[in-house]
Amino acid sequence: MNDDPVKRPPWPESASRPVVTPISPSVVYSSPSLDALDAQYDGEVHGYAYSREGHPNAEVLAQKIDALEGTTGGFITGSGMAAVTAALLGLLNHGDHIIGGDQLYGRSMRLLTQDLPRFGITATLADPTDVNAMRAAIRPETRAILVEVVSNPTLRVADMEGIQALAREHDLTVIVDNTFTTPRAYQALLRGADIVVHSVTKLLAGHADVLLGYVAAKDAGLNQKMNDVAVTMGFTASPFDCWLGERGLMSFNLRFDKAQENAVLLADHLAGLEGVARVLYPMRPDHPDHNRAAHLLGGKGGNMVSFELSGGRAAANAMVLAAPDLAFAPTLGDINTTLSNPATSSHRALSPEARAALGMSDGFFRVSVGCEEIAPLMDVFTRAIKAATG
Ligand SMILES: Cc1ncc(COP(=O)(O)O)c(C=O)c1O
Repeated sequence: MNDDPVKRPPWPESASRPVVTPISPSVVYSSPSLDALDAQYDGEVHGYAYSREGHPNAEVLAQKIDALEGTTGGFITGSGMAAVTAALLGLLNHGDHIIGGDQLYGRSMRLLTQDLPRFGITATLADPTDVNAMRAAIRPETRAILVEVVSNPTLRVADMEGIQALAREHDLTVIVDNTFTTPRAYQALLRGADIVVHSVTKLLAGHADVLLGYVAAKDAGLNQKMNDVAVTMGFTASPFDCWLGERGLMSFNLRFDKAQENAVLLADHLAGLEGVARVLYPMRPDHPDHNRAAHLLGGKGGNMVSFELSGGRAAANAMVLAAPDLAFAPTLGDINTTLSNPATSSHRALSPEARAALGMSDGFFRVSVGCEEIAPLMDVFTRAIKAATG
C-alpha cells in the first residue's frame, strides 16, 4: 500500500480504451534512458519531453484541424494572435516587408503597423478586394501577403485568386487568416495559400470558453520554423485548453451549418425591418462581392451578418438596451448569438471619418449568429430595433 501522497503510482493498466481523449497535464515526460531521449529528439521515435515543446492534447487537436484544412504538420498556439505572430516571425526577417489587408482583425493590423516595425519588419495595408491595390503596395523587399478571406466587420470578400496569382508572379508567401470562413467554407491551403492561421477561439472551438490558435504551412521546413518560434516564445497552449478545443471541435460542422442557416434567415429578416438602413451578408445578391463570394465559398456564407441601424449612436445604444438577453460582446463564433458595435469596440481607435471610409457608421452592428431557435431570435431583433428607431 502506497501511503506517501507525494509518490506517483503507475498509471493503471487497462485492456480497454477510453472513448474520450484523456487530458495529459504533465509538464514533463520522463525518458527511460539518455539513448531513448536522443532517439526522440532525433526523430527516430515519437515522444514528448516538455509540454511547451508539445503534448498529446495539442497534437490531437492539431491533427483534427489539419484534417479539416487538408494538410499535415499544423500546430496549436495559446490564441489566434499567437498563431498570427508565430507565422509572421517564423517567416519574416529584419528588413522584410509585408502587405496586409486593410480590414484585418485589429490586433493583426497593430502587429503589422506598430509592433513588427520595431523589429525592422515593415508593412503596407491595401484593399484585398482590389488586386491592383495589392500590386501597387509591392516593394523589392516584400516577402508576404496576409489576408482574411471575409473581412471584419463589413464582410468584404478578398480577391483570393487574383492575390494568389500576384503572389506567384512576385514569389510572395500568402498567409490566410481563415477564422471567419473556416475550412467548412474555404480550405485555404488547398485553394492556393502557403500558410493558414486560425483563431480556434471562434467557430472551431465554438463555446466562448477557451482561447486557442492554429497555424500550418504547406512547406514542412516553414512549419518547423514557425513551430520553433512558438516553442521559444512560449506561444503554445495548455493541455486542458486543447482538450476543451477538441471537445468543441467535435460539433463544429453541426454548429457551422446551423448558425449559417440562421444567418441566411436573419439577414433577410433584418433587411425587411424598418429602421435598418442596410444589411451585409455575402450570399445576398445586394452584397458588393456577391459573385465572388458565391464562387469562392461555394454557397457557404458563414454565420456573420452586419447591418446598419438608422439613427446613429443613440439608436444603436437604445437597441442594445432593448435586447438585454443578446450578448453585446466583441467576439464571434460562439454557440449563442453575439452582437458587436465596431465603433465602440474593435474600431474605436479610428476616427469617425476613417470608420466612415471603411463603411462603418456609429449605428453599424456585426452579428455573430449562433445556433438558437431562429424565430425567437428574429423576434428579439424585431422588438429591439422597433424600440430603438420608433
Ligand atoms: C479574424 C481574426 N483573427 C485573429 C483573431 C485573434 O484571435 P484570438 O482572440 O484567439 O487571439 C481574431 C479575434 O477576434 C479574429 O477575429
